[in-house]
Amino acid sequence: MKVLIIGNGGREHAIGAKLKQHHDNIELFFAKGNGGTESIGTNINLTEVNEIVHFAKDLQIDITIVGSEALLVQGIVDSFHQYGLKILGPNKKAAQLEGDKAFAKQFMLQHGIRTAKHQAFTNAKTAIDYVTYQKFPLVIKATGLAAGKGVCIAQNFKEACDYINDILLNKIFGDAGNEIVIEEFLDGFEVSVLSIFNKKNIYPFISAKDHKKIFEGDKGPNTGGMGAIAPNPLYTSNIQQDFEKNILQPTLKGLLQDDLIFSGIIFFGLMVVNNECYLLEYNLRMGDPETQTVLPLLNTDLLKVVEDAIDGNAITLDWKHEHSCCIVAASDGYPGNYETGKSITGLNKISTPYFIAGANKIDNKFETNGGRVLNIVATSDSLHEAKNKAYEAVHQIHFDGMYYRKDIGLI
Ligand code: AMP
Ligand code: GLY
Repeated sequence: MKVLIIGNGGREHAIGAKLKQHHDNIELFFAKGNGGTESIGTNINLTEVNEIVHFAKDLQIDITIVGSEALLVQGIVDSFHQYGLKILGPNKKAAQLEGDKAFAKQFMLQHGIRTAKHQAFTNAKTAIDYVTYQKFPLVIKATGLAAGKGVCIAQNFKEACDYINDILLNKIFGDAGNEIVIEEFLDGFEVSVLSIFNKKNIYPFISAKDHKKIFEGDKGPNTGGMGAIAPNPLYTSNIQQDFEKNILQPTLKGLLQDDLIFSGIIFFGLMVVNNECYLLEYNLRMGDPETQTVLPLLNTDLLKVVEDAIDGNAITLDWKHEHSCCIVAASDGYPGNYETGKSITGLNKISTPYFIAGANKIDNKFETNGGRVLNIVATSDSLHEAKNKAYEAVHQIHFDGMYYRKDIGLI
């Protein structure tokens, strides 16, 4: 069995490691992978849809799993299907639910999926006229893919105008900012729910909590995620029922009705306000670092889950009744500019699992080459213990400028 995983972060390393756990003899390929994935498979230096499709065809790859969103929006799944190749992910049409926030909001509205009230704009003056009469804070989003950086919570009229002009006139996100969505600010707590869609049903995973801001106490700019825990302790069974009734079921009905049918991941980004779930966004790939946090709790064979999703079979998911904590070690300066090429020591001293997010392997040693560098994960019977084990491991590791949040897992 040959499996190709597309992406180069800790998420892809974690997916590969989980597949290997149940299938020692599986042959893994990563496009383009990183210093961690090369110890469990073969990294191939391909990033374009056409190149990757031809590689998969020539090598007779059995299954491909797409980690990152950009290629999904470009239609990599459609290209694979043209050659009869099996791939986990949405087709180009369905990928708009992640790649175009105006499309996603319209879908939510049409199918009664609970979400913040919103308006979409392409014209800066009309958008500014609209915000003149709104209450602050107000949330302004570029509709295209902006690597998690396209959202501004404007505290006042001036901030809103500046951001609208930056996106629609100054084009700080290029074409990803041809349109904006302006929506009401929801004051609650966030929950990440990953799930898998087999063309017929959506099967939710256990919940997770991401820590998106760079600094402790959720301060500073947003990052890709500085750590996560699973399950999310605030996600009670009542809230879960509310999610299934008001978000998951209407999403499934909408996908089937609108012919947005695929085999792939649906990641629901939720805001919970007064015990009611609101859908902030869909991502149609696994979360990072949610994946690194959640997969260690999965008992079920991940390859079987993926195959069942692709073949449209019913899916069984069995989870450990444990807690997981993942801490991200990042380069000083991230999410802004940072230096690379710092040598990493101490990984041989830790007994918890870790995934490489942004490091190369040179002469059998790891050197940093990204903003987020390492994901250290620990599981245990209690969240407290999982957190302590993860931090104990982090304390053994060193590279120049290593930065991590000290409050991952504090609620
Ligand atoms: P998104 O890319 O839409 O998930 O937004 C990124 C982040 O911005 C979310 O994880 C939230 O922290 C925040 N955010 C987005 N929309 C809202 C909203 N309507 N109210 C409050 N915070 C929001
Ligand atoms: N951790 C959030 C994301 O993957 O989008």
